Amino acid sequence: MVELLQSQGNRYKVSNILNYNNNISNLAGQQHFNNGIENKKILQTNNDQRITTTTAPKNKPNKVNKSGFVVYEEANFYISSRYHILKMLGKGSYGIVCSALDLTNRDNPVPIAIKKVTNIFTKDILLKRAVRELKLMRFFKGHKNIVNLYELDIVYCIPYDGLYCFQELADYDLARVIHSSAQFSEFHIKNFLYQILCGVKYIHSADVIHRDLKPGNILINHQGNLKICDFGLARGISPKFMKSKPNSITNYVATRWYRAPELILSRKKYSKAIDMWAVGCIFAELYARRALFMGSDIIHQATEILKVLGTPNRKIISSYGTSIAMELLNPPNPQYRPIPWNEILPYASNLALDLLGKLLCWDVLERYDVTQSIEHPFLIDIRDALDEPVCLAPFDFSFENTAITLNDYKILIHEEVESFKIERFGNSYKEQLHKGGNLVSSNQQ
Ligand SMILES: Nc1ncnc2c1ncn2[C@@H]1O[C@H](COP(=O)(O)OP(=O)(O)O)[C@@H](O)[C@H]1O
Ligand SMILES: [Mg+2]
Repeated sequence: MVELLQSQGNRYKVSNILNYNNNISNLAGQQHFNNGIENKKILQTNNDQRITTTTAPKNKPNKVNKSGFVVYEEANFYISSRYHILKMLGKGSYGIVCSALDLTNRDNPVPIAIKKVTNIFTKDILLKRAVRELKLMRFFKGHKNIVNLYELDIVYCIPYDGLYCFQELADYDLARVIHSSAQFSEFHIKNFLYQILCGVKYIHSADVIHRDLKPGNILINHQGNLKICDFGLARGISPKFMKSKPNSITNYVATRWYRAPELILSRKKYSKAIDMWAVGCIFAELYARRALFMGSDIIHQATEILKVLGTPNRKIISSYGTSIAMELLNPPNPQYRPIPWNEILPYASNLALDLLGKLLCWDVLERYDVTQSIEHPFLIDIRDALDEPVCLAPFDFSFENTAITLNDYKILIHEEVESFKIERFGNSYKEQLHKGGNLVSSNQQ
C-alpha cells in the first residue's frame, strides 16, 4: 500500500504515512507533472518502503578485535561493536551512510544513521569540508529541524579511514517522498515548508548559509518531522569573522537545479538569499513532484529559469556584470515573458503561489528572507511563533583564517572530535584519556 501523509486536527501528524485516503482534490493537477517520472520512482509501493530499501551491505561483522571494534567489509566500516549495521542508505562522492542499531542497552537498541566521510586524509578539500560539517553540526545540535549528532569517531586505518558521524536516523529523505507515489495535501506541504523555514531561520540567525538545500538533504520521519542535514558546503558569513578570502568562499558547486540565478550569472555569490531560492525550488517541487528547473548545464539551467520568470529587467542584468549574463539575457537571444505561477502550479492556493513568487524572483533584494517567509499569511494557521528559536551568537569560522595546511586541518578535526567527546561524555571520557584509552586515537593503526 502506498504511504500517504495524514493530518490530525490542526496539528500535523504523519503517524501512519501508509493508508491515507483523504481528499486530495487540490493535487488534482498533479498527473500533469507526474508525466514522465513514473519510471524514476525511488520508493517501492509496498509497506516496506523506508529509506532503508537501498542495497544492504553484508551485515556480518568480522570478529571483534581487542579494542572492541569490528569491520563491515561491504561498507568499509570499522566501528565499535556496540553498533550493528543494518543497511546502506546512500553512497555519494563524499562517503557512505548506513542505518544501524546502537546496542549499548541491549534491551533497548537505538536506531541510528552512521555517515562515514571518506578520503579526508588524502584530499584536503574533503578534509576542510568534513571539519566545517562537523563544527556546524555541533553548533546547531539540538534544534528540532536539524539532524542531531550523537557521537563521532575518526578511523585512520586504510581502507576504513574517515570521519564517522553517528546521527539520529530518519525514515526517508524528502527526495524519496516527493518522487514516490505518496500523496499529500497542501496542508502537508505547508507543514513541510514551515519546518524547513524553522531550520533555515536557526541556521541563518547564526550567519551561516547552508548552500546545498535540496530534497535529498532534508530528512523526514514517520511522525512528519523534517530535519536539515548535510552541512558539507555550508559557510559562515558573519562579518565579525570575515578576513578577505573571497576565492575560497565563492569556489563551490552546489546542486545545479537548486542554484540561485545570481550564483550562475553574477559574481556576487554568498548571501542568505541563495538558500531562500533553494527553499522556493523545494516548495514548488512539493506541488509539482518534479524539480522546477532541471538544467543539464548552467546555460540550460539559466534558460529554464528564464522561461518561467521571464527575462529580468535591465537593472538586474547590468548588476550581474558578467559576459555570460550579457550574452544570455540580451537580444539576439530570445526575450521571455514570465509565466503566471497559477499556470505552472494550477492546484496550489493563491497564498502559496504568492509566497512562491516572493521566493523565486530575480532580484536578491526583493526575494523574501526567512523571517518574511515564516511571517507570510500562507503559514499563519500552523505557525507557532513562540517556538522558532534563533542562535544567540554567529558561528565562528575564524579557524578558516588560521588553518592553512592539510596538517592544520588534521589537527583541527582531531581536536574537534576530542572536544565533542569531552562535552558529551564529560568526566568518564576524561578518565579514559588519563588511563591512556583515547577513544579517538585507539582506532589508529
Ligand atoms: N540521519 C540520516 N537518516 C537517514 N538517512 C540519512 C541520514 N543522513 C543521510 N541520509 C541519507 O544519505 C544521503 C547522503 O547523506 P548526506 O549527509 O546528504 O551526505 P552527502 O554529503 O554524501 O550528500 C541523504 O541524501 C539521505 O538519503
Ligand atoms: Mg547530501
